[in-house]
Formats: sequence, structure tokens, C-alpha cells
Amino acid sequence: INLDFGKMVKWIPTFIDGMIVTITLSLLTVVFGTILGLVAVMLKQSSKKILNILANIYTKVIRGTPLLVQLYIWLYAFPLIGITLPAIPSLGDTFGTREFLTAIVALAINSGAYICELLRGGLEAIDKGQMEAGRSLGLSKKQTMRYIIIPQAIRVILPGLGNEFVAMIKESSIVSVVGIFDVMYTSNIVKAATYSIFEPLIIVAFIYFILTSILTDLMGKLEKKLSVYD
Ligand code: ARG
Repeated sequence: INLDFGKMVKWIPTFIDGMIVTITLSLLTVVFGTILGLVAVMLKQSSKKILNILANIYTKVIRGTPLLVQLYIWLYAFPLIGITLPAIPSLGDTFGTREFLTAIVALAINSGAYICELLRGGLEAIDKGQMEAGRSLGLSKKQTMRYIIIPQAIRVILPGLGNEFVAMIKESSIVSVVGIFDVMYTSNIVKAATYSIFEPLIIVAFIYFILTSILTDLMGKLEKKLSVYD
């Protein structure tokens, strides 16, 4: 075959559009996923058995089934029993579609389960003696959590959250199979328009690589900054 990256130049805006969708999707996923993860980890720590059980079912089911299957269930199975997200046309025909909004829900719920375990790991990594020390200084359980345990746990958790963001940048490529215009999907568009397969795929791989590299770099810098407070 003769490779011609030159004819990819006029598709740059298309690749960039896809890139914006991928970044938006994974950012929203990690933000909402973190909120869900926080709620779930609090339920797991709760003294109410039923809340522990619910949170455990959540993380077990989500982590025990493929993201692709979850996405299909949200998009194609749940609507059959009346669970459907509406489209929000005012957000435009990329971000306002039912598919895009549903994908955010599916991805965030997926990510939330992983983040919950990450948070739990971070909290558990802190020596039990720290709680006892706080308590014996006269702090309440809540105060010890807030002023002693959580500040230390954050140093363990932040790199993990960064990794989750990197993971979601890559994992979000799954949404291309339901027609969402992310980076991965742009390779289909360009392939169909130019009959080239090699070039668009290599460009797409390169874009993902750049995105994850930048993020990994930023996380490295942040970790260094945090270790100053050691
Ligand atoms: N690809 C795997 C799956 O389908 C991993 C999903 C990872 N999700 C995450 N939030 N880290 O289940």
C-alpha cells in the first residue's frame, strides 16, 4: 500500500472535534464517578448493614461485568422497561443526544465503582494507630477522620484518581460503537470518506497517546508537589 498522511491534513478539524468529545466525556465521567465513589464508600463505612450491602452489590456488579455490556443495557435494555434518558437538544447534536447523555451515566456509574474501591483502599492504607492517636488526643471520630486520616489518604488517592482519568480516556473509546462522535469514531468517518484505514487509525492512536501522556505528566508533577508536605 502507499501511505499518504498528507491527505489526512484536511481531516484535522474532524479529529479535533472527536478529541473534544473524548476529553469532555472522560472528564465528566471522572467528576461524576468521584461523587458516586464518595457516596458509595461512605455507605460501605456506614454502621447500617443494609447500606453496606447495597454499596457492595453496586461495586461487585459493576466491576464484575464489562463496560460494553453496561453501556448496551443503559441504551437498549432499560428503555424497554421505561428507563430512558431524554435528549437535551439545546446542548447541540453531539452533546445533547440521548446516546451521549446515557453514555455519561453508564461511564460515570462504572467509574464510580472503581473509584469507590480506590477511596476505600486509600483510607485503609492509613495505619489504624492514627485513629487511636486522634481519639486519645480527645478528637471525635469525625474530627480524626477530617484532620488526620483524610489528609493522609488524599496522598494515596490522588494518583489513583489520575490513573482512573487516564483509564477513562482510553475506555471511553467504547462509546464509538453506539455512534458517539469521539476520537475513535473519527477514524470511522475518515475511513469511510477516504478509503484509508491505516492512516486514521495511527492518528487516532497517536491522539490517545498524547492525551494520556499529558495527563500522566501532570499527575507526576502534582505528586511531586504533594510530597513536599511530607
Ligand atoms: N474494559 C474493562 C471493562 O469493560 C474495564 C473498565 C474499567 N473501568 C474503569 N472505570 N476503570 O470492564
